[in-house]
Amino acid sequence: DEELNTEYIGRNIIHYSSVDSTNMEAKKIALEVEEGTTIISEEQLKGKGRLGRNWTSPKGKGIWMSIILKPDISPTEASKVTQIGAASVSKAIEEIGIKNKIKWPNDIVIKGKKTCGILTEMSGEINRVNYIVVGIGINVNLEEGDFPEDLREVGTSLRIEKKQVIDRVNLVSNVINNFEYLYKDFINTRSIKKSIDICKESSALLHKRVRVIKGDNIEEAVAIDINDDGHLIVKYDDGNIKEIISGEISIRGI
Ligand code: BTN
Repeated sequence: DEELNTEYIGRNIIHYSSVDSTNMEAKKIALEVEEGTTIISEEQLKGKGRLGRNWTSPKGKGIWMSIILKPDISPTEASKVTQIGAASVSKAIEEIGIKNKIKWPNDIVIKGKKTCGILTEMSGEINRVNYIVVGIGINVNLEEGDFPEDLREVGTSLRIEKKQVIDRVNLVSNVINNFEYLYKDFINTRSIKKSIDICKESSALLHKRVRVIKGDNIEEAVAIDINDDGHLIVKYDDGNIKEIISGEISIRGI
C-alpha cells in the first residue's frame, strides 16, 4: 500500500526536482528541523557515494533520499543507523516481490549486482551526536544506458532485474515505514538486534570467503557472523578471528 503510517520519520518531506546532493541539503538544515525530516530529490547533480565516489542519480529514475536523525547516542554508535537503513531497504524491496541480499555494511545487491547504497554522515562531539544523515540511493528504474560504462557490470536496477517499471512512491513508503519501525526499536531497546537479524537472514557475505581490503593490504577470510554492534566477524585461515567495523575497510565477496 502506498501509505505512510509513521509518527515522525518522513512526516516532514522536502521534495526537490534537482539538487547537488540530498545529503548535503540535509546537513545544511539538520539542526533547524525536526527529527525524521526527509529530503527527496528527483535527480542529483553531484550525488555522493562512499570513499569519495560519485553516485549516478538520473532524473525520475531512482529514490535519492536523506533522513535526518537526532538520537541521543555516542558517535561510535552512529554506524548502527546504516544497518537500520540497509535492513529497511532490503525488506522494502522484498515487499514488492524482488529477492535481494545485503552486502555488509551498506549495499543491497541483486544477483551480485549493486542496486542500493547508503551513505551515513554525522556531526557530533566526543560523546554525543548532534545529528545523523542517512543517505539512501536506490536504483529503481534506471536502464542499462543510465549507468556509466564502467559500472554496467557491477550495478543494476530493480527495473532491469524485474523487467518492469517499478512504482517509486509505493517503494519509498515501504522504506520509510520499515525505517521507523526499526529505528524506534533501536531507540527503545538501545539495540539494533531486529535490524541485524534482517541483515543476517539476507546477507550476501555470511559463511562465504571474503577479501578484507585495507589500503594496499588484501587478506582472505571467512565471514562468520555479524555481532550485536553491527560489526562483521571474520575468521582467517590461521584461525585468528577479527571484528571489522564498517567504514574501516572494504569487503569483497569472492
Ligand atoms: C555508496 O554505496 O557509495 C553510497 C551511495 C549513497 C547514495 C545516496 S543517494 C541520496 C544520498 N545523497 C547523496 O549524495 N548520496 C546518498
